[in-house]
Amino acid sequence: MASDMSVVPEGLRVLEAAGRSHHITLDLHHFDWSCQTYLKTGRMMPEDGLDQLRGFDAIYLGAVGYPGVADHISLWGLLIPIRRAFQQYVNLRPVRLLRGIESPVKGFPPGQIDFCIVRENNEGEYSEVGGRLYRHTDSELAVQETVFTRHGCDRIMRYAFDLARTRRGHVTSATKSNGIIHTMPFWDERFALMATQFPDVRTDQYHIDILSAHFVQHPDWFDVVVASNLFGDILSDLGAAVVGSVGLAPSANLNPEQQYPSMFEPVHGSAPDIAGKGIANPIAQIWSGAMMLRHLGESKAALAIERALEAVLARPDVRTPDLGGKAHTREVGDAIANEISVVAEP
Ligand code: IPM
Ligand code: MN
Repeated sequence: MASDMSVVPEGLRVLEAAGRSHHITLDLHHFDWSCQTYLKTGRMMPEDGLDQLRGFDAIYLGAVGYPGVADHISLWGLLIPIRRAFQQYVNLRPVRLLRGIESPVKGFPPGQIDFCIVRENNEGEYSEVGGRLYRHTDSELAVQETVFTRHGCDRIMRYAFDLARTRRGHVTSATKSNGIIHTMPFWDERFALMATQFPDVRTDQYHIDILSAHFVQHPDWFDVVVASNLFGDILSDLGAAVVGSVGLAPSANLNPEQQYPSMFEPVHGSAPDIAGKGIANPIAQIWSGAMMLRHLGESKAALAIERALEAVLARPDVRTPDLGGKAHTREVGDAIANEISVVAEP
């Protein structure tokens, strides 16, 4: 699926290269759903857009948003309805320091920062419950309700614990039950209860304020971090910065039951400040493609992409400006695609 970002073509180029070298045929359908489309048609996606997507195995999305279209229109017209309609309740965001990248946090070599943020992606603070009263008067007010359900908390927490079992067996919960007196104590209760079902998994929890400090000072403490929608959103940009750049961070919006397509997109936004300059870092988009292949059962091809992007990052000459280099988006995409093809040759 296309979007406002020039990084999507690079992601596709790399997916095609991985497909060629691993004998996978990708049947790609492009949907030109973007802010430009909105300006022409008044809709981010057609009225039956979700039905058009429903039958696909996966959705590959670029960052959404452009000046001239209000963010709440572009995002609530495309990204958020897809996450919800397709029950993509897990937003999985790996935070890994890659070889070749220096963390702004001193003293952490690659390998020592390697954790996953498991962000609740369907409810929480991102609810539509609320409203405004007395618009345009001195009494104007806005109310927004946070919605936490047992079903919603339990399924995201279960995913986090299951994931921890495949990793280092440790789950950290992001809370704020000292200040938010209804929803967050409820979140803690559900977390404690879920932990009893996973006695082999170590748990801890931190309030979001100090947790943010620990992300910077002790990023090696974490394995799986489970968080509500808003906390997970904020932690993901912080985590990305700690491992070098928001231009590197991938994400997967997963419907683990696979009743609906899952969606793969970078953590970052559409970066309108550099749009059209051809200098956006395509690595988050490319890495998200690797997550998509893994989800589709093509883990060898996914690994090939991850290896290739690490190999390219180890060369300081092919870096975009966010990583201190001078390379263009296209050059980075080309280098990664070439690396895959070269490695694949017998
Ligand atoms: C993200 C983004 C979105 C979110 C925005 C664009 C609505 O920041 O995927 O992290 O908050 O979920
Ligand atoms: Mn975000």
